[in-house]
Amino acid sequence: MSRTEDLFELSIPATGKYAGLLEKKPEYEELVTFAENKTEPVYNWFYYKEGFSRTLVWDLLKELSVPKGSLVYDPFCGTGTTLLAAKQMGYPAIGSDILPLGVFVANTKLQEGYDVELLQKEIQAITSLKFGTTSLKWADPGFIDMRKAFSRYARNDILFFQEKILAIEDAKIRNFMMLGLLSIVSEASNTKKDGGVLKIVQKRHLPPVRYLLRNRLKRMFKDVKKTEPTGVHAEARIGDARDPQLEDDSVGACITSPPYLNYIDYTKLYGLELSLLLSSTRELIDLRKRSLRSHVGAEYKKENGLRSEKLKETLQNLKEITITTSRFPEVLTGYFEDMYIHLENLQPKMQHGSYACYVVGNTCLPDLTVDVDLILAELGEQAGYTAEKILVAKTRWCDVAGIRKERPVRESIVILKKE
Ligand SMILES: C[S@@+](CC[C@H](N)C(=O)[O-])C[C@H]1O[C@@H](n2cnc3c(N)ncnc32)[C@H](O)[C@@H]1O
Repeated sequence: MSRTEDLFELSIPATGKYAGLLEKKPEYEELVTFAENKTEPVYNWFYYKEGFSRTLVWDLLKELSVPKGSLVYDPFCGTGTTLLAAKQMGYPAIGSDILPLGVFVANTKLQEGYDVELLQKEIQAITSLKFGTTSLKWADPGFIDMRKAFSRYARNDILFFQEKILAIEDAKIRNFMMLGLLSIVSEASNTKKDGGVLKIVQKRHLPPVRYLLRNRLKRMFKDVKKTEPTGVHAEARIGDARDPQLEDDSVGACITSPPYLNYIDYTKLYGLELSLLLSSTRELIDLRKRSLRSHVGAEYKKENGLRSEKLKETLQNLKEITITTSRFPEVLTGYFEDMYIHLENLQPKMQHGSYACYVVGNTCLPDLTVDVDLILAELGEQAGYTAEKILVAKTRWCDVAGIRKERPVRESIVILKKE
C-alpha cells in the first residue's frame, strides 16, 4: 500500500450516511491545484494559487458524459479555469465571481480574434515609452502600508503604465496589456503571498517594472499567436454565487471550487491588484463584506439555522474542545449557510440529469476535522440533489503545532446530481 492509499483509508469515517460515497482518486491529486496551469499557455497569464487545473475540468466533463453544447457554469469562477477549459472543449460557459479581479482576468483570457499586428505594435510602443508623470492614484487597500509594499519608483511606474494602457483604443488590446500589468504587480512589490496572507518582505533585487512588463507581454503575445479561435461563447460576470442569474433549466454542468473554509480573505491576499482596479478603499471593504462567509471579514447575519446532522455534531464537538481560533463557530455556520443558499438557488437552474461538482478541502482544527465534503453532500441532498459520489483527490496529514501528525484530512470533489 502506498503512503497516499494508507492515508485515504485512515481518513474514511467508520459511520455516517455519506461516508460510503468516498472514492479514492489519486490521479486528481495535482489537478485540484493550480500546478499544471503554471506552464500552460493563457492559463498562466495570472497566477491564482487557489485555482485548479484545466485537465480536471476536461476529465470531469468526459467522466460525467456532459452532452456536447451544454452550458457549463462556474459560480465561483476566479480567474476562469473552468470557463477556458470548457470553451476549448467546445462547451459554452458562464462564470461569476464576487471580485472584479477574477472576472477581468477570466474575460481577458477568454478573448479571441486579436489584431495580432496591432497588438505587437502596441506592446512595442508601450514598453518603449519614456517615463513621465502620471495623474493616476492607487486606491489605498487599507490593510497594508503602500510605502513599504513598493518602492516609490515601482509604484509610480505601474501607475504610469496603467495610464498609458487605459488610453489604448482597441478594447481587446487594452485588456491584454492591463492583465500583463496586473500579473507583475506582485513581482514588482516587496510583498509575498504566504499561507493565504499577504506579507511585507524586503526583496534584495527588485526587477524594474518596465523589464517585468516587457517580458510578460512578450510571453503572452506568443500564446496569442499560437491560439486558434474556437468561436464558442464563454464569459465571466461579476456576481454572487448565492444568487445565480441564470434561466431555469439552463445549466448542463457546474464545475467549481468555492473558497475553502480556511479564513483566506481574497480581498486582502489580492488586495494590491484589486485596488489598482478599484477607485477607493470603501469599495474593497464592501467586496470583503459581500464575499462568501469563509473568513471573518465577511458580513455576518444571523440566518435561519441549518438542518445538517453532521454540522450539528461538528458544532457540538467544537464547543467541547478548546478553540484557539476566535469566532470559528460563527464562520463555520456562516460558511455552510452560504453554501446551502447557493445550492438551493442553483437547483432550479440545473437541467435534469446534470451534475454539479465542488472541489473542497476539509478543515483541520486542533482536535477536530471539519468534514466539509460530507456536510456539503448532506446539504446538497436537502437542496434537492442526489449526492452521487465524493472523489478524494488528496489526503494529507493535519499537523498540530506544525509537528504532530494528528489525523488525515481530505481534499475532495463532491458530485451532486439533479435527478
Ligand atoms: C477557490 S477560488 C476559485 C478559483 C478558480 N477555480 C480558478 O481556477 O481560478 C474561489 C473564488 O470564489 C470567489 N468568491 C468568494 N465569495 C463569492 C461569492 N459570494 N460569489 C461568487 N464568488 C465568490 C473568490 O473571489 C474566489 O475567486
